[in-house]
Amino acid sequence: MWWTVGALEGLHADQSVWGRAKKDKVVMDYRGYFDQAIERLKTERRYRVFADLERDATRFPYALWRPEGEADKPREVTIWCSNDYLGMGGQAEVIEAVTKAAVRHGAGAGGTRNISGTHHPIVELEMELADLHGKEASLVFTSGWVSNLAGISTIAGLLPDCLILSDALNHNSMIEGIRRSGCEKQLWRHNDMAHLEELLIAAGPDRAKLIVFESLYSMDGDIAPVAEIADLAKKYNALTYVDEVHAVGMYGPRGGGICEREGVMDRIDIVEGTLAKGYGTLGGYIAASMAIIDAVRSYAPSFIFTTALPPTVAAGACAAVRHLKKSGVERERHQRMAHLTKHALQAAGLPVMSNPSHIVPVMVGDAEKCKQASDLLLERHGIYIQPINYPTVPIGTERLRITPTPRHEDAHVALLVEALVDVWKTLGLPFSEAKIIPMTRPAVATAPCTYPEMKRAAE
Ligand SMILES: Cc1ncc(COP(=O)(O)O)c(C=O)c1O
Repeated sequence: MWWTVGALEGLHADQSVWGRAKKDKVVMDYRGYFDQAIERLKTERRYRVFADLERDATRFPYALWRPEGEADKPREVTIWCSNDYLGMGGQAEVIEAVTKAAVRHGAGAGGTRNISGTHHPIVELEMELADLHGKEASLVFTSGWVSNLAGISTIAGLLPDCLILSDALNHNSMIEGIRRSGCEKQLWRHNDMAHLEELLIAAGPDRAKLIVFESLYSMDGDIAPVAEIADLAKKYNALTYVDEVHAVGMYGPRGGGICEREGVMDRIDIVEGTLAKGYGTLGGYIAASMAIIDAVRSYAPSFIFTTALPPTVAAGACAAVRHLKKSGVERERHQRMAHLTKHALQAAGLPVMSNPSHIVPVMVGDAEKCKQASDLLLERHGIYIQPINYPTVPIGTERLRITPTPRHEDAHVALLVEALVDVWKTLGLPFSEAKIIPMTRPAVATAPCTYPEMKRAAE
């Protein structure tokens, strides 16, 4: 859109960007474009508002919320939508590792991995992650998003005429990795093995094929048939790339994810994970054979040309990975709280989508109502649950995505049920038939969540 300088006189940028030119010098109304873009989101009811929260490491899931315009009057809220699924961000060994690394190595990495950024904590972390997944090597990136971009694009891009077979519900980071590879892509219907097999047969045995999928889909909470995918890959000579972002730390005897739990780690070629969710810190990684890792290390611009994770973060992540390899307490309690929460919400007639994982999606089905429900929970009940709207989920399936953690207590669940019932009644949202569902696995006996080691760390 073009303007003359004269046309700008007296015209506020909020007005139509297509104004009349008065003089002959043409200028671009930059601001107008951005205002219009934001207006579009607002009209479509998908403009995102962030809550200003201050997590309390020693008292998670409690946090302070500073309402807009009242930053000096913080209110205590309970967080019910954190992806720090196990609360490892506040775990004593993790905090201690971060603190020691800061004192010892300073705040930053000092450069890209090529330019003095390969520090000992990141090397140790990579060894720990390779061991976690039973692979020869691993490579750490600045986020899970970047690891998918770099991993998929480089691996597929280095294979001749590679066909990427992608589950239809794969995450945006995987889609960006596929795009960046420049390779042909075919989508298989979500978790549909017959469709995947059809595409594998059509591609023929001689063509390079990369099957990319997630082990646990984070919006619906469903789990991929990883063993069947591995079988098909073997039968039709394809490579497999799994995103275990929502499973590492939380599933499998050592936290290796769904593939570890299902005993198929050795039949999956490349595992991608994050350090930002189950491990409570930041960063992403891939683990695979030495040849694949060395190739990605050597060819991926999103690895080569960016500063490495700082030693503090690498050391904290490493402590979290080590802890969860040994300790199953967090995993057990996490599963128990997820089951309890689903059970309690369903018993109250709230429309919980059933699934076999720790994710508790409660369907609203309307963007505006979803936002209102989230606002009411926060303002009236001190409960923070971010609304999930399009494009994260399809239009008409807007929902509240609840993520119980081992640090929630039974009493928190009772308050959550009460609050949600009140919000559902206030907004006239439909209840489903109240169901007393049997717990799908035995409740694990747990003591109250006191986390004494955290209290020590805080002292
Ligand atoms: C399936 C999946 N993969 C990758 C990512 C990106 O991970 P990170 O948050 O570490 O960038 C996400 C983020 O939520 C995700 O849901």
